[in-house]
Amino acid sequence: MNVNRLVRGGRRLALGAGSMAVVMAGAGCGALRSAPTPVVSAPAGLTGNWVVRVPNADGTSRNTYFDLRQVGGSITGTIRVTQFFYRVSESTGDERGFTITGTMRDGNSNRTVRYEGRLAGDTLHISTRRRPQDKPTEMIAFRGPAGEGALPARLPLPALHKVRDNGLARMPPMGWNSWNKFAGRVDDAAVRGMADAMVSSGMRDAGYQYINIDDTWEGGRDAQGNMVTNKKFPDMKALADYVHGKGLKLGIYSSPGPNTCAGYEGSYGHEVQDARMFAAWGIDYLKYDWCGARTLYTDEEMPAVYQKMGDALLASGRPIVYSLCQYGRLDVWKWGPDVGGNLWRTTGDIRDAWDSMTRIGFGQNDLAPWASPGHWNDPDMLEIGNGGMTDDEYRTHMSLWSMLAAPLLAGNDLRSMRPAIAEILMNRDVIVVDQDAAGKQGTRAWKSGDQEIWTRSLTNGDVAVAMFNRDSVPASMTARWAELRITTKVAKVRDLWQHAEVASARAGHEAMVAAHGVVMLRLIAERDNVP
Ligand code: GLA
Repeated sequence: MNVNRLVRGGRRLALGAGSMAVVMAGAGCGALRSAPTPVVSAPAGLTGNWVVRVPNADGTSRNTYFDLRQVGGSITGTIRVTQFFYRVSESTGDERGFTITGTMRDGNSNRTVRYEGRLAGDTLHISTRRRPQDKPTEMIAFRGPAGEGALPARLPLPALHKVRDNGLARMPPMGWNSWNKFAGRVDDAAVRGMADAMVSSGMRDAGYQYINIDDTWEGGRDAQGNMVTNKKFPDMKALADYVHGKGLKLGIYSSPGPNTCAGYEGSYGHEVQDARMFAAWGIDYLKYDWCGARTLYTDEEMPAVYQKMGDALLASGRPIVYSLCQYGRLDVWKWGPDVGGNLWRTTGDIRDAWDSMTRIGFGQNDLAPWASPGHWNDPDMLEIGNGGMTDDEYRTHMSLWSMLAAPLLAGNDLRSMRPAIAEILMNRDVIVVDQDAAGKQGTRAWKSGDQEIWTRSLTNGDVAVAMFNRDSVPASMTARWAELRITTKVAKVRDLWQHAEVASARAGHEAMVAAHGVVMLRLIAERDNVP
């Protein structure tokens, strides 16, 4: 913990000072200025803690640390880049020209990075490429204070116990999240604008409730160790009041690691303090993203790490939905509820592209048994309206997520949606399927080539049927209830995108399904009061 505090203190000090510039060139990088670091000492050669600081617009900076030790032609040490902390595993050369490779264990695989560099006066000129065919990204590192950027000590983990169910999210959460559209550009004004738009567009009345701020709101910690916001979020409590005033709820984001995926402050070692702070601000939802925790803990330790925050949220006394984000590792669906989780990401990040959306969505079949009221599989946020897919593809996205009882977290700019996008996000017939009280996740009932039919049991014996055409040309499809093993006595069938009853569909339904499109139906069971 001492190391942790020292490091954070050092970073604040460094951020406040001077005016040296770092120029990054190469693939798409313009000129970037760094915050300066006072020269602490200047040992010969490469030995020292070298820092590249790239300021973010919010008053924080993105720092890369090369903590190196050179003995003749041998270079050892560590490299820290946002959430990643590598050990130098190979080196060639010396201060006149060197190459270092950093390696880290991440779950069941290894990650590596490779840098080339040379000493120029008392700065380090370094370059790296993401892929061999890329242009190099070049950077200049200055000497930083010893210990700054060092990995904090690994804290012991609590014994496992079952965290009490918080009683929240009886239906899959619905709302909006900033990451897919805004990433690091989210700020107070955007969040307020989104809350306004959620009301004026009718989305609130259609069931959307949470406005969730993702990564990059964090500003570090104050002298008492309290998490503070950065310049983009001048007053989180006031923002929560504003969002609540609209009849909505506010969500936030953190990591169990020392830093988040974008390299911002995480909750490591401050879980109870942060949960209290979130409660004091009026936060209603926390997405807790593994990120920098990978440098301290193994995947097998995830349950204990997540349990810590599960306990802390309960102890805060405020009802806060707990969303686990660790990309579906270690079969999270099996232990998510035990650590207090209301939902858990089942995969890596979605992209606004047909391939990404369908690979994730159609890959969820085996997880159906793990969904139930209060505990949901989360195939990631919606990309509907972000521009990378056609409207038919977005209808498939909305339909598939609803068949999966998935959280419906819009990821587009709600202030400027086209009417067709608003219609997709606010299709109440489809939303009712997603929010069905029985909370049973749908599964694939039939497949032939690029066509598949999924079914989902609903309350009262109703059944949702989604006929998906994954082909890039339209296809004629027939759904036969018996073949889909639907035993419900069907009284009526409603087409959930046409918003109309389908004639003579007692035994099945035949339809032309658009390229990458869907026909989604609700089979309404015969009931005593339905003649
Ligand atoms: C990870 C998560 C994303 C998003 C970013 C933020 O990649 O999976 O959903 O939260 O981090 O840095």
